[in-house]
Amino acid sequence: MTKKTKYNIAIISFLLTLFVVFNGFIYTSNENENPIKLTGHALQGQRLWQENNCWSCHQIYGLGGYLGPDLTNVYSAKNKGPEYIKAFLNSGVKTMPKFNFSETEKEALVAYLKLLDSTGYFPNYNAKFKPNGWVELDYKK
Ligand code: HEC
Repeated sequence: MTKKTKYNIAIISFLLTLFVVFNGFIYTSNENENPIKLTGHALQGQRLWQENNCWSCHQIYGLGGYLGPDLTNVYSAKNKGPEYIKAFLNSGVKTMPKFNFSETEKEALVAYLKLLDSTGYFPNYNAKFKPNGWVELDYKK
């Protein structure tokens, strides 16, 4: 082996090691971990939300079906809240189906909507659109 070949092998080995270490670092760092943790009741609520296709008529942050209202902040909205939400679930108003949820299931859906509510509000009329496309959110209601 010439001196030059040895030198090249050394450089390539060094770069490969850097690559492996760097990847190990990137894929094990928790920096991008989802900050919203769905656990217990809220997790069960999310499952009920998906199984019963609530999203086909309702929106969260404006996304979903449009037969019913957006539910992002139904939990904290004036004159609404947990009891209000529960009242809708099994009553079959307008085009909303009459579900047959148990008290625990109703609580779970409320827990899910409460958690969603805590993540922000919609629509956010105080959002500022900057010329570079960045959106600055004002989290105060
Ligand atoms: C087929 C369409 C449809 C489906 C599916 C549906 N809804 Fe509704 N929902 C509606 C409509 C329409 C209203 C408005 C009723 C009214 O204002 O009288 C409504 C109202 C509500 C309200 C009251 C909202 C407010 O701000 O007044 C809540 C809470 C709600 N639905 C929760 C749910 C949940 C949870 C599910 C799934 C388990 C669900 N809905 C599935 C159509 C639907």
